Amino acid sequence: MAEDGKAAEAAEGGIDRRSALSLAAGWAAFVGATAAMGAGVVRFLFPNVTFEPPQQFKVGFPATIAMGVSETYKSEYGVWICRNDEQIYALIAVCTHLGCTPNWLSGESKFKCPCHGSGFYASGVNFEGPAPRPLERAAIKIDDDGQLLVDKNRKFLFEAGQWEDPASFVSFRA
Ligand code: FES
Repeated sequence: MAEDGKAAEAAEGGIDRRSALSLAAGWAAFVGATAAMGAGVVRFLFPNVTFEPPQQFKVGFPATIAMGVSETYKSEYGVWICRNDEQIYALIAVCTHLGCTPNWLSGESKFKCPCHGSGFYASGVNFEGPAPRPLERAAIKIDDDGQLLVDKNRKFLFEAGQWEDPASFVSFRA
């Protein structure tokens, strides 16, 4: 009889240990799920933020802008600053086909898109490849301190006649 009692106690002890183990596993799963949910909530409260370069920026004094196309501001601000005999203007470095970034080929005096081969004159007007329209220009003006201020928030489209708008260029004699 005494041996039966021990066996029963041992059996009970076994059940208790198993119960304790599954209880602990249950709690662990609960805590894990709660932590994951909490992390999700925190992630929701602090979403990804893309830091874009400012849309308004200065590019120096008109007299310092050399004839032709300057790539100085292309990588940081995504524009070329261009000067011809009459005007200084800012071309936005986004291909009007599917949005790639063209390259300025000074030897050939043209912008060439590496994606599908569209070509644009220094003026921004397209002349080869699939691009359906010229590059866009950004607003540019002489700011109070005499420097050129480019504003990419305002864009000017050649096909809409907007390159005639005085806000789309600075007359070089200004
Ligand atoms: S994106 Fe420039 S040619 Fe296609």
